Amino acid sequence: MSISNTNGTKSEQEVRVWMDGCYDMVHFGHANACRQAKQMGTYLVVGVHSDAEITKHKGPPVFSEQERYKMVRAIKWVDEVVEDAPYVTALETLEKYNCQFCVHGDDITVTADGVDTYHIVKAAGRYRECKRTQGVSTTDLVGRMLLVTKSHHEPDDMLPDRENTLRMSLCKESVSPWTGASQFLATTNKIIQFSNGREPEPTDKVVYTAGAFDLFHVGHVDFLEKAKACGDYLIVGLHSDRLVNRYKGSNHPIMNLHERVLSVLACRYVDEVVIGAPYSVTMELINHFKVSRVIHGRTTYDSDIDGQNPYEVPQALKIFEQIDSGNPMSTQDIITRIIDNRLEYEKRNKKKEAKEAAAYATFQKLKAENLNESTAVNVGQQK
Ligand code: CTP
Ligand code: C5P
Repeated sequence: MSISNTNGTKSEQEVRVWMDGCYDMVHFGHANACRQAKQMGTYLVVGVHSDAEITKHKGPPVFSEQERYKMVRAIKWVDEVVEDAPYVTALETLEKYNCQFCVHGDDITVTADGVDTYHIVKAAGRYRECKRTQGVSTTDLVGRMLLVTKSHHEPDDMLPDRENTLRMSLCKESVSPWTGASQFLATTNKIIQFSNGREPEPTDKVVYTAGAFDLFHVGHVDFLEKAKACGDYLIVGLHSDRLVNRYKGSNHPIMNLHERVLSVLACRYVDEVVIGAPYSVTMELINHFKVSRVIHGRTTYDSDIDGQNPYEVPQALKIFEQIDSGNPMSTQDIITRIIDNRLEYEKRNKKKEAKEAAAYATFQKLKAENLNESTAVNVGQQK
């Protein structure tokens, strides 16, 4: 980070930032928190809690610690992951990793005993908040999986309002002012914030791959890491919701195109994303992006709507390859795992929402009692 010295010259100084969390079912809300935390300094250390710690304080996580560690390592703003980070952030932890302060989203986090997990770092003045990403939460995603509707798709794919109302009413069980689910609105600004903004160098070997990349998971991460290793610049084509629905059926994709764009852009192996890529890889696309390799994983692929092989052109050019990610995880596995853990999830979310609602009520009451501003802010931030 550039700082001005007393003599007016600038010098580079490392500002190490600590951020911790569960990171169970990592989504672009977590990535956005990491992005903001990284901006507050120059080096971001993310502490991820172990399965045992999360089970003790929240209930068992859906994703194993090894899966969660790998997902967080793949977020492009993360410089280092500390495994098995303690649930309550201690000053010793900040010292151990040489971090100046700890960052967390502006929601509530309490231990099994209802204690603010950040009370120590707050008291020491070593706590900062970033803005939580509204409209993306595990609760909402679980809602979409359970209700077999397509109201989360792009507007042109939208089914009648009744379905949307049904999903939103399910999410309305979330009463918390911090985490209550609302619709995520993608903006160009958010896409710019997530983008690398890097064009390929003339000598770069451009690799292209396309797919749904729904509920971005560790299988995708392993695949993209290997795809990137096939060249210097990786472009990922994301199929539209309508296209994904055509070949995956039911209410797929669970995440709409804009959400999938952000999930993939947050991955450190990805340089560029094509928003709404065609199913067939055409000569125009290959020439336009100067693609020298087209990659698909070991999963099967369908014919295009006209019955043609979508990889006919790159195969004829001998630039097509199927690579093995070495990871059998699929979007359907994620859905099955989450639905199997549904009751546990609901219990956990209800508990969290109740605690947040109680804290918010206290905050409002104190504000109404006309306490001075600093006291009100202090109490409002208790987690
Ligand atoms: N976070 C965020 N926006 C979201 C979700 C999480 O900014 N939509 C932030 C949290 O505030 C926290 C970090 O991501 O600073 C790690 O989150 P985690 O411990 O996994 O918290 P949860 O609140 O449990 O995330 P979720 O409810 O989505 O599972
Ligand atoms: O199924 P989806 O379209 O999301 O997959 C995107 C790409 O990731 C495909 O090329 C698929 O073969 C690959 N993949 C993989 N290993 C996994 C999951 C997906 O190689 N476990």
